[in-house]
Amino acid sequence: KFAVPAAIAKPTASNPSPPPPTTLLPLRKIPGDYGPPLLGPLRDRFAYFYTEGRDAYLRSRSNRHRSTVLRLNVPPGPPIAADPRVIALLDAASFPVLFDTDLVEKKDLFTGTFMPSVSLTGGYRTLSYLDPSEPNHAPLKKLLFHLLSSRHQHVIPEFRRTSAVMFDTLEAGISAKGSADFGAASDKAAFDFLCRSLLGTDPADTELGPDGPKIIMKWILFQLGPIMTLGLPNLVEDLLLHSVRLPPALVRKDYDRLAGFFRRSAGPVLDEAGRIGVSREEAVHNLVFSVCFNAFGGMNILLPSLVKWVGRASARLHGRLAEEVRSVARSAGGGGLSMRSLESMPLVKSAVYECLRVEPPVPLQFGRAKRDFEVSSHDARYEVRAGELLFGYQPFATKDARVFGRAEEFVADRFVGEEGGRLLRHVVWSNGPETQAATLSNKQCAGKDFVVLVARMLLAELFLRYDSFDIEVGTSALGSSVKLTSLKRASF
Ligand code: HEM
Repeated sequence: KFAVPAAIAKPTASNPSPPPPTTLLPLRKIPGDYGPPLLGPLRDRFAYFYTEGRDAYLRSRSNRHRSTVLRLNVPPGPPIAADPRVIALLDAASFPVLFDTDLVEKKDLFTGTFMPSVSLTGGYRTLSYLDPSEPNHAPLKKLLFHLLSSRHQHVIPEFRRTSAVMFDTLEAGISAKGSADFGAASDKAAFDFLCRSLLGTDPADTELGPDGPKIIMKWILFQLGPIMTLGLPNLVEDLLLHSVRLPPALVRKDYDRLAGFFRRSAGPVLDEAGRIGVSREEAVHNLVFSVCFNAFGGMNILLPSLVKWVGRASARLHGRLAEEVRSVARSAGGGGLSMRSLESMPLVKSAVYECLRVEPPVPLQFGRAKRDFEVSSHDARYEVRAGELLFGYQPFATKDARVFGRAEEFVADRFVGEEGGRLLRHVVWSNGPETQAATLSNKQCAGKDFVVLVARMLLAELFLRYDSFDIEVGTSALGSSVKLTSLKRASF
């Protein structure tokens, strides 16, 4: 077949350029360098967090070496991570090699070049840190699939209920103070929703009370501190977070409360664990991790991001979304949302995918080469050696202008229609193409479909209740901080 050279083809919002056949690409040595030991990683850590910032750090090195595959350091570096050296993959062509579990190993790489102490997870290496070749990867993932499918019918009703409370609280906040913090309200709603829908327990009825979200954010800080910024003075923050590990003992009591809550509330799933051959305790700590770190942590980033991107878009988009959601809900009868009605909302679906493309909630992915192989960018092939660490920066892959037209813009209807649908394989927020399913043998997010459903429900609920809304945006430790300044009640 004739391939249009990528440099000539002009991608539009919905029309990617076809890639050139990779065998025709020239072989190039991977450019870049790591600088002197200790000094290089330290200098680069400052550039990454403070003097340049993450995007500019990666972009400037990529430009300097005229390559989207290059060698560089990533934080935190020594002493927390002995070896900060990686091969960075900064385009849509090279990034997907990280999904090929025949080529790359994912063992202990969930958080990158360092791994948090297992004493933060009950002494277990939880599923996210396991390579599919390890014997407990498949049973643990099977347990999560069981959890999600067995609680399936509770998801939509519990989301409707918790989001109604959330919107009431936000409205009250806006009328009392002129604005309301969406993040705080959505954290509370997300935790209540996850516990009620997946465990059948309202945390308010237990010893945990309202403390879940606060405890989880503290526990996540102890795990992700080495790669987070909190906005403290640079030197203080770098010494406190990036140079030493926060002692797990300081969060143990909190974690034990969380684990106790799951031990008492997750009876049926824990029984299923026994049938699958997973010990009850290993199941408890894996449930804590999946529900609190993967699911709650992910929603803590994704839901404000969704409200931010849709909020920044035009009132015209809000009107189109409201029309779509209400006409589908009306024809479904009873104003109800169902799996089927949510499937019949092409604009809502596309807006959710576009948000996951333009701001992937988990931006960094890692994999270690299992053997020697070649990786290709759009322009060249590169040799990778067994044992080398690959680092993919997802925002550059999913905003690659060689694949997406107007790549930096939020184009809500980008994925509508047949042509739009063809682009979905380049949406990889779940650690794999959106067109592919999570399985027991890959490392794709076990909650992929659940997450997409939740995001669609948030937009649907929002536009069932309101014609439009206004926001103010800032930054927070993990993602965006979004304040709602108005919610305009539905007028049609
Ligand atoms: C894996 C993102 C919600 C369970 C992953 C990975 C990503 C991700 C990027 C791959 C990490 C890597 O290995 O590099 C997200 C986001 C979420 C979310 C952004 C929410 C917005 C959930 C939910 C669950 C879940 C709701 C289940 C209740 C998992 C599990 C893995 C995983 C178990 C490891 C899969 C394996 O080892 O094969 N997720 N996730 N996640 N996620 Fe999610």
